[in-house]
Amino acid sequence: MADQFILTKHEGHVAILTLNRPDVLNALNIPLMDELITTFEKLDNDPSVHCFVLTGNAKAFAAGADIKEMAEASVVDMYERNNLARWERIKKVRKPIIAAVSGFCLGGGCELAMHCDMIVAGEGAQFGQPEINIGVIPGAGGTQRLGKAAGKFRAMELILTGRFFNAAEALEIGLATKVVPDDVYLEEAVALAQKIAKNSPMAVRFAKEAVLKAFESPLSEGLDYERKMFYMLFGTEDQKEGMAAFVEKRKPEFKGK
Ligand code: HXC
Repeated sequence: MADQFILTKHEGHVAILTLNRPDVLNALNIPLMDELITTFEKLDNDPSVHCFVLTGNAKAFAAGADIKEMAEASVVDMYERNNLARWERIKKVRKPIIAAVSGFCLGGGCELAMHCDMIVAGEGAQFGQPEINIGVIPGAGGTQRLGKAAGKFRAMELILTGRFFNAAEALEIGLATKVVPDDVYLEEAVALAQKIAKNSPMAVRFAKEAVLKAFESPLSEGLDYERKMFYMLFGTEDQKEGMAAFVEKRKPEFKGK
């Protein structure tokens, strides 16, 4: 059913998606993830949306994949469901996604936040990859993305012990972009999204793609890719407008063309 597990709100060019299973701390079951992925894909193709904020509630961004949904599964069940392969579609969203995190951000919840492009956390947020404590390991990119953010030696300790860590530590290890008072975590994330949404949508998307390229390719390939994307932006009206506005000492008005 649409709009059951994901609530959508629009504020100007920003779409705010809220995970909505509060009774179970937003545990990420398959129907919720399916709804999240289809909502992202629909709005990624909507030109009125320039930037996303993904959030939960004050108590939890998400406390992980739904343990009850998978507790009895066999290896064949997991392989057949192949639920985690669908998460790849979030990686393909072209517009920036800011995770606005409060409360628990654990396991698959932390991995979902790491699928986003920035993480704004309330100071009381609790992060962690506690899968090791229930006999498994992160399965939606945690072993890879936490290491890329925090480096091997911090990631290893966090993943092998499964201990929770707070927002200050998330900031220190490079996981959180920004830590703010708990009562304004969403407001601050939306303000950041609004700032990004004012820029040329094409340039913003190219910038996201180019930054992500660095994590998947050798430096020389990434530099080449960046250069070509830079040149390509000279085919947009927004580049002409942006540079003309600078020369004429006025604010640019970008049209996404
Ligand atoms: C299913 C969950 C859940 C989860 C919480 N709940 N986390 N249900 N899956 N991941 C449910 C509880 O069963 C409970 O429902 C309700 O939410 C409230 O949780 P409590 O435990 O009563 O709350 P509290 O005492 O405040 O403890 C909060 C908590 C704890 C510390 C976050 O809930 C917890 O440890 N949760 C599991 C965290 C975890 O291990 N996450 C990783 C999951 S594995 P009832 O009905 O009992 O009241 C994973 C794999 C990722 O994410 C793989 C790729 C996606």
